[in-house]
Amino acid sequence: MKRAIYPGTFDPFTNGHLDIVHRAAALFDEVIVTVARNSSKKPLFTTDERIDMIKESISSLNTVHVDSFEGLLVKYAKEKKAQVIIRGLRMISDFEFEFQMALMNRKLAEDITTVFLMPDERYTYLSSSIVREIAQLGGGCGPFVPQGIEKRLKEKYSS
Ligand code: COA
Repeated sequence: MKRAIYPGTFDPFTNGHLDIVHRAAALFDEVIVTVARNSSKKPLFTTDERIDMIKESISSLNTVHVDSFEGLLVKYAKEKKAQVIIRGLRMISDFEFEFQMALMNRKLAEDITTVFLMPDERYTYLSSSIVREIAQLGGGCGPFVPQGIEKRLKEKYSS
């Protein structure tokens, strides 16, 4: 049983994240998309809102589950008996930070391997903060996020 976790802030979950989840689901028996609760990023959406949005987006994938975590990622991976951490690499600028994180996680837990997946090139320019900025300025986010998330973004910024 190969179980992978896909951690992130997902504020909000985008089509680029969804693309990575589809690729991971094709490679591993089970994938847990896990929302970081202690992110220093001061998220726009609460943890529960982010979990709900991801659940709605992945409802057709029955080997993918959604959860949240706090504290050390490798500790959580061990608790979940996951052998693999998935991270998305969009472009070379992601590499330095991801490389450092992967090596540190390997120092902390030798038996957990980070696997990098590249999203479709259509999504290499996407990030959660750019999506939030577009929504905040009244632009349409439909092409960038799974169904339902554009509406939630509009509601957030109108309230
Ligand atoms: N499509 C679209 N956007 C993507 C993407 C994709 N495929 N892959 C990454 N991104 C974007 C995200 O939207 C996010 O954009 P933003 O900065 O504009 O919000 C950015 O890339 C990176 O975010 P994310 O992938 O969510 O990672 P993160 O940096 O927010 O989260 C954790 C990193 C939570 C996994 C990491 O901090 C962690 O493990 N924390 C736990 C504590 C710990 O163990 N620390 C020791 C680590 S060595």
